[in-house]
Formats: sequence, C-alpha cells, structure tokens
Amino acid sequence: MILITGGTGYIGSHTAVELINAGKQIVIVDDLSNSSEDVIDRIDKITGVKPKFYKGSILDKQLLERIFTENNIDSVIHFAGYKAVGESVEKPLMYYSNNLIGTIELLEAMKKHGCKRIVFSSSATVYGIDNAPPLTEDMKTSAINPYGWTKVMIEQILRDVYVSDNEFSVVLLRYFNPVGAHPSGLIGENPKDIPNNLMPYIAKVAIGELDHINVFGNDYDTPDGTGVRDYIHVVDLAIGHVKALDKAENSFGVLTYNLGTGNGFSVLELIDSYSKACGKELKRVITPRRSGDLASCYADPSKAEKELNWKASRTIDDMCRDSWNFIQTSNQ
Ligand code: NAD
Ligand code: UFG
Repeated sequence: MILITGGTGYIGSHTAVELINAGKQIVIVDDLSNSSEDVIDRIDKITGVKPKFYKGSILDKQLLERIFTENNIDSVIHFAGYKAVGESVEKPLMYYSNNLIGTIELLEAMKKHGCKRIVFSSSATVYGIDNAPPLTEDMKTSAINPYGWTKVMIEQILRDVYVSDNEFSVVLLRYFNPVGAHPSGLIGENPKDIPNNLMPYIAKVAIGELDHINVFGNDYDTPDGTGVRDYIHVVDLAIGHVKALDKAENSFGVLTYNLGTGNGFSVLELIDSYSKACGKELKRVITPRRSGDLASCYADPSKAEKELNWKASRTIDDMCRDSWNFIQTSNQ
C-alpha cells in the first residue's frame, strides 16, 4: 500500500491516477488547505477506483498513527506542503513549520512502522541562481526564498535519515515547471486566487476571468527576451513517480532525478501555443521583471531517462490543449 500525502492536490491527484492505472493500491492524506475532497470522486471517475481518504494534516501525530496502523503502508509519496514562493517570503514560519515539521512527523511515523521507502517532491528551485542550464543533479544546491530553502533542507533531512539507517530508500524528484491537466478534464490546477504561475494565469485570460497576461520582462538574455522555462505535462510527471517508485522498490540509498523535458520555451512561445489551443488572440502587456526570476531554467533529464527508463513525451501543444480543456470543463 502506498501513502500519498497531499494526494488531492494538483500533482498528487494525477499521480494517484497513474498509480491506480499501474495496478497499485493507494491511500491519500490531505488537509484540503489547497484542494478539495471532490478530487477523490474524480479519481474514481477516471480510474474506476475510489481511493481511501483521510482528511487531516501530516502535522497531526495521532492521525498519522491511525493511518499507519490501519493500512499496511510500504511506501510514501510525499507531496504535502505549501508551495507559493511569494507567500513564503511573507510568512516564512508558516512555510518552515508546515513543510519541515510535516516531513519530520511523517518520517517519525514511517520509522515507527518500519516503512522505509519515500519519494519526495523537490523542485528545480534547489538549483538556486548560480548554476547555468541545462541543470544536472550533481550541481550544488541553494535557495533564494523560504519555500526553496524548505526543499533544500528536506532533501538534506532525507539524506541524513538514510545515513542513520541504510535500509531507507529515498528518491528526490526535482520537478521543473509542471503544467497542463488530465485529458479527461476532470482534474487539473485551478487556483481560487489570482495565479502566480504563468500557465494558470494564461488559462484565466483565455476563459475571460482576467483581462491580459503580464509578461514579466522582455529584456532577458534569451532568444525573444522573455523568461525561458522547462514546462512539463503533469501526466508525464505523474508517470515519472510510478517509475521512481519502481526504482525505489529495487534499491537502497538516496537517488536524485530531474523531471523535465530538457526543452526551454519562452513566455511568448507559451502564450502563442495557448492562443492556438483556445483559438483566440490573448492580450499581453510587457511589465518590469519579477524579482527573483531567472532568465532561463531547464533540465538535463538524461539521468531519469537512463536510470528510470522515463522520458517526457507530451508536447507544449498537448500541455496547452489539456489546460484549456480543463479550464473549460471546470467553468461549466
Ligand atoms: P498542491 O498545493 O496542489 O498540492 C499540495 C497538497 O498538499 C494540497 O492538496 C494541500 O491541501 C496539501 N497539504 C499542504 N499541507 C498539508 C499538510 N500539512 N498535511 C496534509 N496535506 C497538506 O501543489 P502541487 O503543485 O500538487 O505540488 C505538490 C508538491 O510538489 C509540493 O510539495 C510542491 O512544493 C512540489 N512542487 C510543485 C511544483 C509546481 O510547480 N506545482 C514545482 C516543484 C515542486
Ligand atoms: N511569468 C510571466 N507572467 C506571469 C507569471 C509568470 O511573465 O504572470 C513568467 C516568469 O517571469 C517566468 C515564467 O513566466 O519567466 C514562468 O513563471 P512561473 O511563475 O510559472 O514559474 P517559475 O519558473 O517562476 O516558478 C516555478 C515554480 C516555483 C519554483 C520555481 C523554480 O512555480 O515553485 O519554478 O523551480 F520555485
């Protein structure tokens, strides 16, 4: 049995679907701080299997004890955490408390119940600002905001746990820019507030909820002057977790993988692809740069291809098509 923390969230729900499709048994815990319970029914609609769900926080020791006692959990995929960079600068203690203490409580429960396999949602943000792309897993890690530091610190905590107990199997997955949605249109990312990230923002402009896209700077050292990122379809990312878990089942140690496509697309290229998907011109306004943004960030994904036998296959047009399908379905 696989425990998915944060399993009703954006990436967790897509991973739940792919694990069920691969014939795995799952149980989900989520405090619904950034998702809703109807995702469980949507997973059921897509797969025909309704996962067992515990509503609550991984900070709650008693809840974790119940989950590990009531289920024979041999692996954990750990998504639960807060993820908004700007909010983490304003409320650092809330981020350190939820992300770090949540992980520590989870690891305590795992140790107590003899569960020694964990796949962790890390981020390309751990490459900081000093490494030049394509980014490889051996580069030095650092961060420039509290959210990023929680990822750097949790990676270190997991390495230390392995040093203390060599029967642990840890996989650190560094995601690049997950976008898109399940092709069914039943699950995806639809933030209630004004989105911070580019793709959900474009989606809200396309559906008419927002007037125009702010392009944060067109004077970067990139082909068209706008920021370049490695966008990855969330279904490809989800399949990467199934492969990572297979690997963890057959190894001990700490393994680190980039999950990206290896291709960079600019802000303007993404807007153009989305315009094609939704069949209309999308208004854009060039604004000053957003502080903390890099010109260019993309993965060298070859390690995951070689060792996990995983490669992202969905294109930027697939990502825009599925995002557009999802936003239309969820606004019906
Ligand atoms: P999300 O917010 O949609 O999912 C996270 C889920 O965790 C939510 O459903 C939330 O309700 C839940 N949660 C938060 N704190 C919890 C707690 N203490 N106990 C139980 N549940 C809790 O985010 P996502 O985009 O699916 O991201 C999943 C993970 O991947 C996060 O750790 C995030 O930092 C990481 N990540 C995301 C991105 C991205 O761009 N989406 C990039 C890199 C890494
Ligand atoms: N951008 C705009 N307008 C917007 C939003 C974004 O022009 O309204 C630009 C940004 O400047 C950047 C690109 O679009 O060039 C992508 O921005 P996102 O906010 O979508 O993604 P980031 O790469 O900045 O951030 C993501 C995750 C973070 C993570 C970071 C580094 O959201 O959690 O990657 O890995 F920390």
